Amino acid sequence: MDILVVGGGGREHAIITALKKSPKAGKLYAAPGNGGIAKQAECFDVKATDIDGIVALCEKLKPDYVFVAPDDPLVMGMVDRLNEKGFKTFGPKANAAIIEGSKAFSKELMKKYNIPTAQYSTFTDPDSAIAYIKAQNTYPTVIKADGLALGKGVIIAEDYDSAEAAVKSMMIDGRFGKSGSTVVIEEFLTGPEVSVLCFTDGKTIKPMVSSMDHKRAYDGDKGLNTGGMGTVAPNPHYTPELQKECYDKIFLPTIKAMQAEGRPFSGCLYFGLMLTPKGPKVIEYNCRFGDPETQVVLPLLKTDLCDIIEAVYEQRLDSLDIEFSDGACACVVMASGGYPEKYDTGKVISGLDENGQCVGAEIYHAGTKADNGRLVTSGGRVLGVTAAGNSLEQALERAYKAVEGISFENAHYRKDIGKKALQALKNF
Ligand code: AMP
Ligand code: GLY
Repeated sequence: MDILVVGGGGREHAIITALKKSPKAGKLYAAPGNGGIAKQAECFDVKATDIDGIVALCEKLKPDYVFVAPDDPLVMGMVDRLNEKGFKTFGPKANAAIIEGSKAFSKELMKKYNIPTAQYSTFTDPDSAIAYIKAQNTYPTVIKADGLALGKGVIIAEDYDSAEAAVKSMMIDGRFGKSGSTVVIEEFLTGPEVSVLCFTDGKTIKPMVSSMDHKRAYDGDKGLNTGGMGTVAPNPHYTPELQKECYDKIFLPTIKAMQAEGRPFSGCLYFGLMLTPKGPKVIEYNCRFGDPETQVVLPLLKTDLCDIIEAVYEQRLDSLDIEFSDGACACVVMASGGYPEKYDTGKVISGLDENGQCVGAEIYHAGTKADNGRLVTSGGRVLGVTAAGNSLEQALERAYKAVEGISFENAHYRKDIGKKALQALKNF
């Protein structure tokens, strides 16, 4: 199976690493890829959002499958275009990717089909949004831009002034462009968060091992929200009882709802859950693999990823057993100083071998590129330093040991990835 992976971050590096393990895998390609992916797959300088460019590349390479990994090309309809041209794909069509592309859509879907989520209202004009906030008079309150906003479109407002400012910045000042012209205002929920990625062919849904993201930039969950500073799998809060409850009340009903709406979802559906005192609730859906969740989930996958891709495309996921190893996995993101705000690039990375790897860990490259034979930084999140182990403790120890051997100017990483998870394990 020759496969083109669309995207160029740590998630795509983890996907390509998993594909590389398959005896079925033939030639692997990436667009645009990055400095680490280039060691495993032939990279082409075509942007992940350039639908015409990707179609033209496929016409040249004739891959057996195209794996569209990031959210924006999925929401823009890249899979639809590729299928029209006769290419097989992994990833949802635009009419299903809307589950991530529009929060107004996903909230309405959950309401209509009784899928547990936070109470909410949707607004298309700022005056009614502000009037609603005043009438509710409950803080914190959560204000979400309807569309894609690089994971930054959610504001938790602690008081009226910040809630009003959030509405104005989204709806009047256009902070997130068109994505913020509609907003969802929702009830603030509390409880541990769990990410569950699921394979689905539109009829059958098979959850992967659970994980826990660390979204804030600094230790102790301080600082701005980022794309994710590290992950661990499995998530200790996600007990077998909760797994069953989530499957019955959330996962299967979501797939059935999408089917009933004439929007069958095929690919990886990501459930961002909060385990509230009133039971698990959906915080968000993503229409794709999470980043950096993928970096800790796929190393634990025992089943051949090529077999899964075929089973999903051919809608026979019900007949495939998907297995994960019993161990644990941890990923520590090394980022450029200043990320998620302004940061410099072009810093030389040391401590990695000629394949961009180091002993004891799997290094997933997120923002790196080759420059005159050296590897330099080229993005905010630079490396996802990942290790598996028999226990979470062992996985974390291995990942942090590797982190200590890697350096670049102004490198920044959290020292407390997995700390809360270890604490939760002790409390059980
Ligand atoms: P999202 O981009 O939708 O994943 O939201 C980013 C983060 O905001 C989530 O991971 C949660 O920590 C937080 N969040 C989103 N919605 C809520 C809510 N209704 N109540 C409390 N926290 C929330
Ligand atoms: N790590 C969160 C996401 O992929 O959206």
